[in-house]
Amino acid sequence: MFFDRNEIDRRIRQSIRKSEKFIGQGEVASYIPELLNVEPDTFALSITSTSGDTYSYGDIDKEFSVQSISKILDLLLALHDNTIEEVYSKVGSEPTKFEFNSLVPITDKPANPFINAGAITTSSMIRGRDVDDKFQRILDFYKMISGTDKARLMEDIYKSEMETSDRNKAIAYYLKSKGIFDEDPSEVLDLYIRSCSIGTNVVDLSHFGAILANKGYGLYETKDLIPESIVSIIVSQMSSCGMYENSGKYLMNVGIPSKSGVSGAILGIVPGLCGIAVYSPRLDKTGNSVRGKELLKILSYELDLNIFIR
Ligand code: DON
Repeated sequence: MFFDRNEIDRRIRQSIRKSEKFIGQGEVASYIPELLNVEPDTFALSITSTSGDTYSYGDIDKEFSVQSISKILDLLLALHDNTIEEVYSKVGSEPTKFEFNSLVPITDKPANPFINAGAITTSSMIRGRDVDDKFQRILDFYKMISGTDKARLMEDIYKSEMETSDRNKAIAYYLKSKGIFDEDPSEVLDLYIRSCSIGTNVVDLSHFGAILANKGYGLYETKDLIPESIVSIIVSQMSSCGMYENSGKYLMNVGIPSKSGVSGAILGIVPGLCGIAVYSPRLDKTGNSVRGKELLKILSYELDLNIFIR
């Protein structure tokens, strides 16, 4: 970022104040009952720059489940365990106007890795002895990239989603029936839902984002944590598909590649500059945090983060 620390802090505080007018707008996700068990107007923001500075505000220790932000992890691990060609032979790379848990965008393959069908497919490509082992690899990977040992499986969220996952179950079995994967659909689904249930906070999530913003290199040493070729895929897919059927409009308004989760979290990546994590549980109709996306838009302007205006 091109301002000094005090100026950045002043601009972030000002942006947060401007976003207060969206408090109370939208609804907390209810189709996973345990997600309702939150204070709807909780708010937290963290920005970690590629030079390692972190700016955090609000309820920064509040743990939330990553939900669809885990689709980034599923894709990362699938690309780690397979070639790019293998992954994209089973999943497409194009946005869809249908909602995230629709079966419609599954033609010869799911439209992209960031709808549920796509992430269930990438989950099927993650290697490991069994579901426990595969999940441990995902969790360890998240911990390593975000530089935390706090991340864990949120059991209540996981159980709640497993009990109410009829739609995702239908998607998993449909994918298997189409020959998109051969694995046991119930195990693939279990892995997918476990990754959605990873609990984290905005500080650790923004650190994870900063690594993606830093071409996959560690912030404090030049360690290559994620290959650049994979970072480029992740960030470009976030731009085109990360906010579901709202992705195009969001990119136009905000100009920051982002990925949302129905818990109310959004992760934004500004290549070369920073990772941004915001948490605010009330969602719009497409499953994106209302205050979160409005704050990202304001921050983009106030901190000059729009990737298309450089
Ligand atoms: O599979 C689901 O429906 C949820 N575990 C995740 C969906 C989600 O986060 C969509 N996001 N905005």
